Amino acid sequence: MAHIVFLGPPGAGKGTQAAEISLRMGVPHLSTGELLRAAVREESPLGREADAHMRAGRLVPDDLVLEILTERLRAPDCRKGFLLDGFPRNVAQAEALDRLASVDRVLYFDLPESVLTERMTQRRHCPQCGTVYNLTTRPPKVPGRCDHDGGPLAQRNDDTEGAVRTRLSVYREATRPLLEYYRKRNVVLDIDASGRPEEVTARIRRVLG
Ligand code: AP5
Repeated sequence: MAHIVFLGPPGAGKGTQAAEISLRMGVPHLSTGELLRAAVREESPLGREADAHMRAGRLVPDDLVLEILTERLRAPDCRKGFLLDGFPRNVAQAEALDRLASVDRVLYFDLPESVLTERMTQRRHCPQCGTVYNLTTRPPKVPGRCDHDGGPLAQRNDDTEGAVRTRLSVYREATRPLLEYYRKRNVVLDIDASGRPEEVTARIRRVLG
């Protein structure tokens, strides 16, 4: 059983790699960002509360995120392990995770800020099937249309310049300190997140063995 955390700044490629690695490992990919976006789409009470925080690029309050994650962790597919993407985001969340499960490995995605901003502002996704594109590095075959279902692509409402700035500063202040939290436990594996997605996948596979 493997409990793995992908830690790193917004736009570093955590979601792209988590989709690939979770398939190869046969464990579910748990993205708190995706769980929250689904709650916003469903207009559940939790989603309605989370929406304004997400649009502005701020963290959603811990109690809401923990509620949604704890419920997801109860699903039977999590018994064989899981890959967490976007959680924990601060020390309080890391302590809460310690009470729910042991963390075996933390993969830290390292990338300069200028590249992060470029990756986020160029990101597009298909609202129907969730496929993530990038206008520069992973463009769709037909401009503006999903390769899989032909539907129109959209931009995330927190990939605007202002929200991206806030997300990066929230990362520096609240999330980056987690690196030290986990380094003390000797569970951190450093990943150079630059280069093509396939190159990053190969690096991850090498360190995970
Ligand atoms: P979340 O959805 O977790 O967003 P994030 O952490 O900001 O991460 P991103 O999804 O922006 O980036 P990523 O690293 O996954 O990159 P991706 O693979 O897409 O969170 C969103 C919001 O939800 C938060 O701001 C917060 O409000 C709330 N939230 C979520 N979790 C929370 C929590 N635990 N507590 C409180 N609030 C929470 O790649 C980015 C782009 O680059 C794509 O276009 C992709 O195609 C491209 N790309 C990927 N890899 C490469 C590569 N190697 N080369 C070139 N391009 C690449």
